[in-house]
Amino acid sequence: MATVVGSELDLRLFSYRETTPLRSGQIDDEPYGGGAGMVLRVDVVAAALDSVYGGPPAHRVIALTPQGRQLTQEVVEELSHEEHLTLLSSRFEGFDERIIEHLCTDSHSIGPYVLSNGDLPAMVVIDAIARRLPGALSEGSGEIESFSDELGGALEFPHFTRPAEFRGWQVPEVLLSGDHGRIDLWRKEHVR
Ligand SMILES: C[S@@+](CC[C@H](N)C(=O)[O-])C[C@H]1O[C@@H](n2cnc3c(N)ncnc32)[C@H](O)[C@@H]1O
Repeated sequence: MATVVGSELDLRLFSYRETTPLRSGQIDDEPYGGGAGMVLRVDVVAAALDSVYGGPPAHRVIALTPQGRQLTQEVVEELSHEEHLTLLSSRFEGFDERIIEHLCTDSHSIGPYVLSNGDLPAMVVIDAIARRLPGALSEGSGEIESFSDELGGALEFPHFTRPAEFRGWQVPEVLLSGDHGRIDLWRKEHVR
């Protein structure tokens, strides 16, 4: 299935079941050495890549796994410059390790916790990349934000909007002053 989001992002979704060489749509198997759960098979993922790309893709292929390199804004910036990416998702016990070693260029974790499958991690990666693409954000709004170089990797300063006072909770006076020098200074002092 293909979805074009704006003119910058072309998403294609594939199910391993569409291209599995195994009967009855099988894609996973019991772990060697025993234990609970099912493991995504290497031949199934190789068949999917062959079918979609006609062989190993020339671009980065990323396995989404808790054992992967932690996704950070720095990694997102790096990935947002790639013309093409393939994200591989798994479920149950995860990937046969040979998928990660031989069919992938990278593996990423979206955080130190375990989700039931890679669908949400894939969406997290796509969303984080998509908002860095040209035209996704109004000018400037993606430049000064948490984890950006402009803030030295720190967390953004607090924001406020109308009303200026609510239940006695006041917006800092400096932000109402119209004095951009003071406002910039206040914001610098309040990065976290
Ligand atoms: C239940 S998890 C597998 C957990 C694995 N047995 C372990 O102990 O690390 C199933 C799949 O969900 C995805 N997944 C779960 N948590 C993730 C995370 N934090 N980051 C990226 N992918 C994750 C991966 O595709 C993973 O193979």
